[in-house]
Amino acid sequence: MLPRQNPTTTVAWHLLAKHYLSLRQHTLVDLFQQDPNRFDKLSYRIEKMVVDFSKNYLTQETIDCFVKLARTLNLNQSIEALFNGTRINETEDRAVLHTALRDLSNTKILVDGNDIRPDIARVKKQMKQFTHKVHSGTWLGYTKKKIKYIVNIGIGGSDLGPQMVTEALKPFMQKGITSYFVSNVDGYHLSQVLEHVKPAETLFIIASKTFTTQETMTNAYSARSWFLQHAHNEKHIVKHFVAISTNKQEVVKFGIAPDNMFVFWDWVGGRFSLWSAIGLSIALSIGYKNFEELLSGAYVADKHFRFTPFEHNIPFLMAMISLSYTHFCGATAEVVIPYSQLLHRLTPYLQQACMESNGKSVARDGTPVHYPTSGVIWGEPGTNGQHAFFQMLHQGTSLIPADFIAVVKSHNSLQHHQPILLSNFFAQTEALMTGKSEAVVRAELEKQGLAELMIQKLLPHKVFKGNHPSTSFLIEDLTPKNLGVLIALYEHKIFVQGCVLNIFSFDQWGVELGKQLANKILPELLSAKPVRTHDSSTNGLIQTYKKMRK
Ligand code: F6P
Repeated sequence: MLPRQNPTTTVAWHLLAKHYLSLRQHTLVDLFQQDPNRFDKLSYRIEKMVVDFSKNYLTQETIDCFVKLARTLNLNQSIEALFNGTRINETEDRAVLHTALRDLSNTKILVDGNDIRPDIARVKKQMKQFTHKVHSGTWLGYTKKKIKYIVNIGIGGSDLGPQMVTEALKPFMQKGITSYFVSNVDGYHLSQVLEHVKPAETLFIIASKTFTTQETMTNAYSARSWFLQHAHNEKHIVKHFVAISTNKQEVVKFGIAPDNMFVFWDWVGGRFSLWSAIGLSIALSIGYKNFEELLSGAYVADKHFRFTPFEHNIPFLMAMISLSYTHFCGATAEVVIPYSQLLHRLTPYLQQACMESNGKSVARDGTPVHYPTSGVIWGEPGTNGQHAFFQMLHQGTSLIPADFIAVVKSHNSLQHHQPILLSNFFAQTEALMTGKSEAVVRAELEKQGLAELMIQKLLPHKVFKGNHPSTSFLIEDLTPKNLGVLIALYEHKIFVQGCVLNIFSFDQWGVELGKQLANKILPELLSAKPVRTHDSSTNGLIQTYKKMRK
């Protein structure tokens, strides 16, 4: 069982709150003036990545307070419980072992007394062999053509993770393969993808932990019909449809051969599943060896998280810094800005990982929590965000802590773009922190020769208060391994936050209600009868929809 303690009632929490009160009396620029070596002291290296926390409200004293709180809340015990297979997903009575999928040690990992490593190894072998068959042309479509197109049909964790990774690792793409991801039940999504692929050369991966998710199953059945319109014979499905799921019964019902099923287990949460067979689309896109590299990167982060003292523990510090902004500085959102087009799906991925995990309002003992839990995670790649929402980051009224992520090396043919991109990355974090004082703005306006009246009019609009915190992640190269490190750091950040907040991070009951209601409404939309079973707004909208569609 995980510890249960309201963090806000602890002495350590109050010490941290008090500390932040006094720390906020200083600006970030003050902190750098007081200690010009902040970068050396507050930036950390892991694998080929530097994580710089120094542009945050953070001093050694802050870290000491974080550690005190972690000790008070027995965080070490929770971390051990995560890795050793304790059923820490208590409301679903499951272990949480995505870390086992990338564990390269020789230690047994037990669930209900059984070592799960042989099962993991078996599925990995199946993935490896299958990937090899597809790439080498041993696996051919029904007209004996090689597979050229991979279409992953899934949603949420069965889509966001593999899609984000596949996009990020485009430079590693297997020659001759093009991958697509279909998630939305809006018919445009699947139909647009089907316009780009040829049935005889397409492999559909139906990725669903439960194999009952409405959106995925609707898309899967439509893809199946489309395929059969061309192939004309159900016996050909075997070469074009594979399933990834924990639900064998439903997979067989769909008509996918058991040999074409890649299993995973209830101890892999959907939003943490890209490391499991759900990563098949990744392996098919970039090769199995690169998929293994991704896992090895996550393992580096796992070891770091499990064995590094809190003072130097990157995901721990990420979590505590973020929590402190929410609880002691009034932040309600965090922005994640990758200065890498390849990472354009990172923020949507993190939205599910963070908000589905920690968007809860009930404590572990079932009582309501009286403090904020997950804030809003949002963002877009830089530099695009600069021309959209950065105005608000620089001059808005909210405190929005930011994660800036940049990759040093690029492998496209337009090498001269990279310093331009990176100059923006460096400039933005500096500008957010230092701002632009009245004196500087005045000097600039005077230099332009403006009249005093005009200067006074413009001055307040051109001042940047600065003092906006950010964390910078500088990655040498966006390799599978480095990406694995980055993702796992965020996963562990989320776990620490859930532990400190005394909530359960691995269930997602909040998505059920909407699903139930949609299931109730669907037959009402299909029936000709007037709908009167809801509130007047919902009834009215449904009736209007029915009229409009005529
Ligand atoms: O949105 C709820 C959810 O259960 C997610 O947690 C999950 O990733 C997604 O639906 C997809 O579920 P499945 O893989 O079972 O289709």
